[in-house]
Amino acid sequence: MIESILFTWLQGADFYRDLHRCAVQSLPPGKGKTWLDVGCGPGLVTRLAAEHGYRAQGVDTNPRMIKAAQRLALKHHSSAAFAIGNIAASPLSADVVSAASLLAVLEDKPAGLHALWRCVHPGGHLLIIEPTARMNPVNAKAAMASGLPRKRINGLRLWAAVRQNRAVDPALFDGLASKRRYIDVLHGLVGAWIFEKPCAPVSH
Ligand SMILES: C[S@@+](CC[C@H](N)C(=O)[O-])C[C@H]1O[C@@H](n2cnc3c(N)ncnc32)[C@H](O)[C@@H]1O
Repeated sequence: MIESILFTWLQGADFYRDLHRCAVQSLPPGKGKTWLDVGCGPGLVTRLAAEHGYRAQGVDTNPRMIKAAQRLALKHHSSAAFAIGNIAASPLSADVVSAASLLAVLEDKPAGLHALWRCVHPGGHLLIIEPTARMNPVNAKAAMASGLPRKRINGLRLWAAVRQNRAVDPALFDGLASKRRYIDVLHGLVGAWIFEKPCAPVSH
């Protein structure tokens, strides 16, 4: 209950929306392709993917998150759809699979990463968004002083306090895909990793 209220509040912060929009828009426009957002919480990234032209679906293990995501999608006139789902046993797949702040909360991160990768169509992309090792109260304060939008800016203070020294080690991604990109978002406090899955070989 508390978790869904907290994430609904945080996802309403302008800085949080802007950094996730920046990560989502690092992928090409969807033009009707599919996007699966795993651990969607109240659905911010899923809605941003829908805005970016994807047929977007969010899944989360927590039914309260899914209820909040459905309510917010209606409020924002979003085409994003939501369902309860666990990455450990997901039958779903998509052209783009995203996971924002999911790996950090999974106990078995390598298994979670490989489950996400399995859901990506050949030729598709996996987008991982996670706080970096730079996420701490001192760096968050500096970012806040640099003119971030003020709405719910205290969410950054809170996020930094909770996440400091708990960043996912990027070594986790070693060997996942040779085609990859990395972009810094929110002054480098958050990273977006984009991995491209090789196309299936053409059979003659
Ligand atoms: C830290 S929250 C992040 C929410 C949202 N993606 C964001 O960035 O604001 C992590 C979310 O992952 C969900 N989750 C945890 N384990 C999961 C799993 N195995 N499969 C799908 N969702 C999961 C939680 O219920 C929670 O909503």
